[in-house]
Amino acid sequence: MPAHIPLPLVHEPRPGTFAVGDGTSIGADGDARRAAWVLHDVLAGAGVRAPVVPAADPAATIVLRVAAPVRDSAEGYRLTVTPGRAVLEGGSAEALARAVQTFRQLLPPAALRRAPVGDAPPEIGCCVIEDAPRFAWRGVHLDVARRFMPVAFLLRFIDLAALHRLNVVHLHLTDDQGWRIEIPAHPRLTDVGSWRTETVVGRTGTFDGTPHGGFYTLDDLREIVAYAAQRSITVVPEIDLPGHVQSVLAAYPELGNTGQPVEVRRTWGISTNVLAPTEEALAFARDVLDTVLDVFPGPWVHLGGDECPRTEWRESPAAAARAAELGLASVDELQSWFLRRLHEHVTGRGRRVVGWDEVADDGGMPADTVVMAWRGSEHGIKAMAAGHDVVMSPEDVTYFDHYQDGGDGEPLAIGGLTTVEDVAAWEPPSGGGPGRLLGVQGQHWTEYLPTPAAVEYVAFPRLSALAEVAWTAPERRDAADLLRRLPAHLRRLDALGVNYRPLDGPRPAQRGGTGRRQRA
Ligand code: ACM
Repeated sequence: MPAHIPLPLVHEPRPGTFAVGDGTSIGADGDARRAAWVLHDVLAGAGVRAPVVPAADPAATIVLRVAAPVRDSAEGYRLTVTPGRAVLEGGSAEALARAVQTFRQLLPPAALRRAPVGDAPPEIGCCVIEDAPRFAWRGVHLDVARRFMPVAFLLRFIDLAALHRLNVVHLHLTDDQGWRIEIPAHPRLTDVGSWRTETVVGRTGTFDGTPHGGFYTLDDLREIVAYAAQRSITVVPEIDLPGHVQSVLAAYPELGNTGQPVEVRRTWGISTNVLAPTEEALAFARDVLDTVLDVFPGPWVHLGGDECPRTEWRESPAAAARAAELGLASVDELQSWFLRRLHEHVTGRGRRVVGWDEVADDGGMPADTVVMAWRGSEHGIKAMAAGHDVVMSPEDVTYFDHYQDGGDGEPLAIGGLTTVEDVAAWEPPSGGGPGRLLGVQGQHWTEYLPTPAAVEYVAFPRLSALAEVAWTAPERRDAADLLRRLPAHLRRLDALGVNYRPLDGPRPAQRGGTGRRQRA
């Protein structure tokens, strides 16, 4: 049996093999065609030109079918591989997207390269696989605000998420150090807010003297969303409000509390420059969200809400007057007031708000707000008790900007220590409701991850382990068994050119913060 990650519920080997090669055609109709084209592209990398044909075509040796749900799950699927034919079926296009990725893991690792190596067409062992995910939200987050990452890398990251049967990619698009999304109504956000003049070097307090920036045009974002949708992955955009906005205030200082000019932040940490609690700031945020809602069709919009210092509001007579006029107990509740108004706007357009767990403090948010528990699982349990659905993303185990080993030779990290063993052994606490535990998510904050290679180095193999936490039922899951499967899984990541951290220690070249290999 191949070393699946995540582990499917059932994999029964059967006699014989199925050869993928000349004469392979992929049969699919309607909604099933989306996953069929992804499989087509996977096989094209292996040198197999398998046309997509109608499901009833007798030439179809691989058939994808939307049929009855498997294991009562929208994403449940069955994969039946016999010597002459492979059938992938499930209750939805999403189910077939997951089945295709499991099929991809049945192929020999070399078949995951983007051009054929060797002459033999890939063969897979016959089997029956039946599978369904544990959690509905299996997420991965990437901070593209601290470091602009090229579109090509985002597409690659989405594909790596898909390989692990993750279904949410959360993009942290805005922060003090950079604004990364084109907003036509507010061009200075990108003209000014997407560039900082230079960046602090490590923890030296010196600066690199090199401008850093970039942003995604709306067509870039549509491409990212469409590429993810082909893989049945939802992209969740995050616009961090009302704090983490120094890049906004660099562009539009009148939206702040002091009116004083500020620069796009060149250092890490938390800026005290936050939005003023005014109708102008709300109107601005609504404009931004209107563009976001137009470009990101998914059900969720993340409004941030983390780490918003009240310093300026406490010092501002206007903010104090506003809090009094609104009948708030103190300026501390201005964040809740601000985000509740945006919640009305977002839900009025049929979407759901997500926020970091601070949104449940100081006045809180309506119960339909999804809470991402980052300060610790206990914040998630508290939020579930208050009726919120929760995504567990605690920094002690899901912040992959932490060191992954306590030994020498690791590249500089923000701090912490989270080993792949820690992630493999993690059981997210479920709490007692009434809010639900939607799922789990791995975070990639990029202060100390300047390149795509650096992101891959911290993401893998910890994200592979988290994918199993997210997907595989706890009674089926075994951390030691996952760790035994990892070396074989890393052969897939080798074929894909992923700059993962080897299990036996860091690559020498990693010490300088660059990759073992650099592939676009
Ligand atoms: C966070 O790490 N500030 C969500």
